[in-house]
Amino acid sequence: MDTATLPAGLRGDYASAAADFTLPPDAILFSAADHATWRRLYRRQSALLPAHAARAFREGLARLPFGAGVPDFGAISAVLRAATGWSIVPVPGLIPDHAFFEHLAARRFPVTNWIRRPEELDYIVEPDIFHDAFGHVPLLMQPEFAGFLEAYGRLGRQAARIGALAPLARLYWFMVEFGLIEEDGGLRAYGAGILSSAAETRHAVVQPGVRRLRFDLPRVLRSAYSIDDLQPTYFVIRDYAELFGAMHLLPGLLPAARDAQPIPPGAAAPGDIEA
Ligand SMILES: [Fe+2]
Repeated sequence: MDTATLPAGLRGDYASAAADFTLPPDAILFSAADHATWRRLYRRQSALLPAHAARAFREGLARLPFGAGVPDFGAISAVLRAATGWSIVPVPGLIPDHAFFEHLAARRFPVTNWIRRPEELDYIVEPDIFHDAFGHVPLLMQPEFAGFLEAYGRLGRQAARIGALAPLARLYWFMVEFGLIEEDGGLRAYGAGILSSAAETRHAVVQPGVRRLRFDLPRVLRSAYSIDDLQPTYFVIRDYAELFGAMHLLPGLLPAARDAQPIPPGAAAPGDIEA
């Protein structure tokens, strides 16, 4: 197993992982305190959803067994498989790009096998199971988003070959983690990085002075981001078909995006359209 490309000091048990970074079933073990942490996070985030979350996220969440504590991996996969053919697999945390792309291309979403400590309720550096499952899985119930993420995984290999992983990571960042969507004349959040964080949820959807731009694939591919603060810029799609439909343009855009000067976080660019 090659962990050389991962940041140092990650919390997970990488020694127990297989070559594809998945963990054995007996590595999924949550204490009563872990379940209590999940329930606190679940209650807090659920309260924000009616006003701020996209319909597909709320509808997906309602069909998943998430309310009683840290959910069971098999139970999540059963619901997902029936809806869109996706499943989830347990991993120790962040995994290298190539392994991540392989899982996505096979409609497997990697989910971390541990949850944050009680003192990290508001913010955690590494993604944990609350972020991965609560944040990401509900949208995987949406067929066009599910298709988009599989296509993303397949294009990952190609992007790696031509040295274009940075623009590809920006697409994931802005559209999977921090995406907004137009709904009923307003804006709603569907991104996992938004909806798994109370502060980011309010900031993304209602905070004045934040840049919310119409989705434009070449612009997203060039947009640098900062990982340690609330986002100064978000991109807004009309529907998930717009995102899925843009994927056929991606191979043609990656070389230019790789070679272009990145647009700094929060900066304006020519052609920007406010959403
Ligand atoms: Fe994530």
